[in-house]
Amino acid sequence: MKNKVSVAPMMDCTDRHDRFFLRLISKNVMLYSEMIATKSAIHGDRKKILSFSPEEKPLALQVGGSDKKELSKVANIAEEMNYDEININLGCPSKKVQKNKFGACLMKEPDLVAECINEMVNSCNIPVTAKTRIGFDDTEDFNYLNSFILKMKEAGCKKFILHARKAILRGLSPKQNLNIPKLNYEMVYKIKEENPELEIIINGGISKVEEIKKHLKFTDGVMIGRSIYQNPFFLVDIEKEIFKVKTNPSREEVAEKLLNYLEKEVKLGTKVNHIMRHTVGLYHGQVGSKKWKRYLSDNMMARDSDFQKSKHIMTIVQNNEKFNEKNL
Ligand SMILES: Cc1cc2nc3c(=O)[nH]c(=O)nc-3n(C[C@H](O)[C@H](O)[C@H](O)COP(=O)(O)O)c2cc1C
Repeated sequence: MKNKVSVAPMMDCTDRHDRFFLRLISKNVMLYSEMIATKSAIHGDRKKILSFSPEEKPLALQVGGSDKKELSKVANIAEEMNYDEININLGCPSKKVQKNKFGACLMKEPDLVAECINEMVNSCNIPVTAKTRIGFDDTEDFNYLNSFILKMKEAGCKKFILHARKAILRGLSPKQNLNIPKLNYEMVYKIKEENPELEIIINGGISKVEEIKKHLKFTDGVMIGRSIYQNPFFLVDIEKEIFKVKTNPSREEVAEKLLNYLEKEVKLGTKVNHIMRHTVGLYHGQVGSKKWKRYLSDNMMARDSDFQKSKHIMTIVQNNEKFNEKNL
């Protein structure tokens, strides 16, 4: 199945609680985990790091690493744990990630990447996919990118997510690397044109349904990060306009279901703020936005926030809904 729209992997954002919340709003998008380093996946507390609720599916595990044995072990674990895809991170430019030899610096080592992908493909039956940039430092060259992709294709990767800006490996922070290098969507379109048999997903700076529709004319899918994290109800526009779903949940319905999840999770030892911090954007662009954020920061965002305080959530939500209905 091709994924027309996916939510980007985002460290400290797309954890299992955020994904559960997003899935309450959209049934059709593909979800990705945050990047998990191979060593954490293999040696860490697997339940804590890798487990997820079945509702989150379809779900991909994103892994960071460059040791082929470790990567193939993680591919194995991902399949065992019932993830739908395993994705290798070839796009993160952070210093720490470079020091550990994973992320965007691997674009300089196509042969090593191909070996890693080959091992992963041979050790699992779920799709092995790659998320990369269109270039790095002074290299923003179609031929380089295309031959990098062809090497990965030969190794067994058929789906590529291309963040349409190069990575600057020295001199820019990860945050600057998300905005400063210019977007070059044309390069991604050209990769699809040259390789029609591959699934090419475009990523970077997409925030409107009209933009999604345009990209879908030239690629197989779009991946969106910040615009969805900051405004999760953007997903309703996507459900309506891209997936043609007529009946979508209201914010009140989403809050009610999330509250049930919160109650269950708190009993299992999850902290209230670990779930509620992902809902800051629930009223993005709506009348009740400030009130909602104030309510969260006064009651739900401290480390020791008390679940009892969440009992007022529905009153805040219902008042906001009334306000917004009036102002429609
Ligand atoms: C807070 C944050 C964390 C991110 N963490 C990851 C990550 O773990 N793995 C990854 O491949 N990309 C990561 N990214 C990059 C996004 O997946 C995406 O490629 C980038 O934000 C561009 O898409 P956007 O303009 O739609 O946000 C991160 C981005 C942000 C803002």
